Amino acid sequence: MEQQFISNLSTTSFSIEEGSVNAKSPSNIALIKYWGKKKNQIPTNSSISYTLTNSYTETELKFKKKQSDNFEVEVYLEGEKKNSFSPKIITFFERIIDYVPFLKGYKFTVHTHNSFPHSSGIASSASGMSALALCLVQIENNLGANLSEEESLKKASFLARLGSGSACRSVFKGLVEWGENNFIKGSSDLYGTKYPDTEIHEVFKTFHDTILLIHEGQKSVSSTVGHNLMNNHPYAEHRFVEANENLEKLIPILKNGDVKAFGELVEHEALTLHAMMMMSNPAFILMKPNTVAALEKLWEYRRETDKQLFFTLDAGANIHLLYPASDALEIEIFIEKELKAFCQNGNYIKDKVNF
Ligand code: DP6
Repeated sequence: MEQQFISNLSTTSFSIEEGSVNAKSPSNIALIKYWGKKKNQIPTNSSISYTLTNSYTETELKFKKKQSDNFEVEVYLEGEKKNSFSPKIITFFERIIDYVPFLKGYKFTVHTHNSFPHSSGIASSASGMSALALCLVQIENNLGANLSEEESLKKASFLARLGSGSACRSVFKGLVEWGENNFIKGSSDLYGTKYPDTEIHEVFKTFHDTILLIHEGQKSVSSTVGHNLMNNHPYAEHRFVEANENLEKLIPILKNGDVKAFGELVEHEALTLHAMMMMSNPAFILMKPNTVAALEKLWEYRRETDKQLFFTLDAGANIHLLYPASDALEIEIFIEKELKAFCQNGNYIKDKVNF
């Protein structure tokens, strides 16, 4: 048990009969990828992500006192009751019960809304778990825990991690690091840490992230299954070392504003993530033919122009296009003219980093 996150509230008597809290949390896109975990959601390597702006989850959590000694949760997504979501939340509650003493004392109703379409293939687990964790910490404070702003965010990140690893990074804005290493001060396996804005060149604070929705709908392999396939993976140990080395390499790049070196590293990370999937047993491929076609088009564009357009991928077929604001005008014309054609239904989402 992590003593620092044990609540100072009593575990039996709660002063409020019923109430409601709200939180909004953005999605994030990893530059150095978390892929592989140990027991209790401890990552096998450090990762870092940009927190986004337009892709977010908004959650209202209502709570009402009850007597029974079990968890009771009802979930509504976009106003519609989702019985299939309750088990995921109950599993989350089971994992965090030692740190959130009131979970059995109340019946909870979750009303949640994503700014991005549910069918878009954009994972809502990071923004969703982060928003829910922020709600729980608010209730804890309303019940008298009196955590400072900093303590509240740290605890929310700690709880969010136990819901979904990457969610711990969505609690903070800017660039957020997760995973203990000896080169980022304050880094931890237990929660995300905001990477200091003073260590980031201005150009990286202007980045756009346009998400090409190459394939809408559910992924064929969940992240959780993918992480587990890193156990007994022939290249896993090397990958974990390389990810940490890549993060260490990124530090001076972020500081000095070397956009080209940034792009090279970030694209290498994305392709390594997918290579790991292809080499796991059983193997799986999450890119679609249009993912590859769009990437080839992007590389061709970069060879022919001096535009600073790069990509990363999450665990799916969609492509995150990363580029600085200074090149946005031309690049967005190129996206509309050339890359949109690779998107299922011609859909893409315009987002940007959140500083
Ligand atoms: C490829 O955080 O979704 O997006 O901890 O099992 O919920 P769980 O996995 P999740 O994994 C995200 C993997 C990734 C890379 C990243 O965000 O770092």
